[in-house]
Amino acid sequence: MSEGLNMGFDAQLADPSGPDEPAVHHVVPADARPLLLRVSAIELVADTVRAIELVSADGAPLPPFTAGAHINLKLPGELSRSYSLTNGPETLDRYAIAVNRDPNSRGGSAYIAETLKVGDVLPVDPPHNTFPLVEDAELNAFFAGGIGITPILSMIRRLEALGRPWKLFYGARSRSTAAFVDELEALEASSPGRVLLHFDSEAGKVMPLLKLASGIPKAAHIYCCGPGRMIETFKASAGWRPSDNVHIEHFVGTNAKPTTAFDVELKRSGKQFHVEIGESIMQVLERNGIQVSHSCREGVCGTCETRVLAGIPDHKDNVLSTRERDANNVMLICCSGAKSEKLILDL
Ligand code: FES
Repeated sequence: MSEGLNMGFDAQLADPSGPDEPAVHHVVPADARPLLLRVSAIELVADTVRAIELVSADGAPLPPFTAGAHINLKLPGELSRSYSLTNGPETLDRYAIAVNRDPNSRGGSAYIAETLKVGDVLPVDPPHNTFPLVEDAELNAFFAGGIGITPILSMIRRLEALGRPWKLFYGARSRSTAAFVDELEALEASSPGRVLLHFDSEAGKVMPLLKLASGIPKAAHIYCCGPGRMIETFKASAGWRPSDNVHIEHFVGTNAKPTTAFDVELKRSGKQFHVEIGESIMQVLERNGIQVSHSCREGVCGTCETRVLAGIPDHKDNVLSTRERDANNVMLICCSGAKSEKLILDL
C-alpha cells in the first residue's frame, strides 16, 4: 500500500444516479481548498496503530462525509497521505483516523508516529469517498485485514446508527496488532453472530476467507480492505457474485503508466498536450505548470479523478468499479492512458 493509504484508500459514495447510469460520484472539485485541522487527540490503539482525532482549527464547520471516505493529510516535506475516516458520518465535529506505523515508511506514517502531537495544525483535503457503503443492502458483509479495518469501522458505525444488518470478518497477525478490538467485541456481545475475529498467532493459520465468504448470501454486498494477498483471495471468492455487490479498497497502487502515446485537450483552457508512452497525463500537465489535485500518484487514492468529455481512457487504476470503467466518463490521470488518439478532459 502506498503507506498513507490506510484505506487502501483507498472508500465510495452511494451511487445517486441509479443502476443504469454510471455515476461520477467522487470527483474532487478542482477548486477544493484544504481545511485547517488541529490534532485534538492521539491514542495508541494497537502495537503500532495510533488513533488520531482532528477538529477544525479555525472554527469553520467540517464538511460532512459518508462512511468509507478518506482524507488527505498534507504533511511537512510536501508529503500527502490518505487515511480512511473511522468515525461514523453522524459525527460532525471531528474527523477520526487510525495510522499504522509502517516499518517501510516513506515518511508519512513515521512522521505521524514520531513527530505529530496534540495541538499541531495541518492542512487536510476535504473527505473523498472511493469506497461507498450501500446503506440499504439486505446484508453488508465486511472482510478486513490489519489496518484495513479503518474504513470498515466507519461503515459498521453507520449501519449501527441506521439499525441495518452487517457481518464482519477481521483478521490480524495477533490480538495486539489489531486495532479497535474492544469496540468490536462489545458489538458482538450486544448482538452475537456478527463479528468474527481471527488472529493468525492464535489460530496457527490465516483467516479462511474463501470458506467464510462462501457462506454469505448472493444478495449481500461484500467488502474487502486489507493486504494485497487478502484482496486477491477475496476476488477469487467473489467471481459468482454480481459485480455491483463486490467492493474493494486497495492499499497499493498499480505502478502503471500509459502504454500508448496520445493527445490530451483541456476543455476549460483549450490547451493541448502530447503524452508519450510511459508518461502520465499528470506528469505532462505538471511539467507545463498546470497543478491538479493528487495524493498517491499511483492510482489508488482517487484524488486525481477527472471527468472525460471525449475519447476512450485506458484505465489502469485501483479505484474505479467495473461499471465506472465501462462508462468511460471519468479517469485517474496519474496512471491511466488512452485507447483513442485523443482525450478531452474537464480541466
Ligand atoms: S489516484 Fe491517487 S493521485 Fe491519482
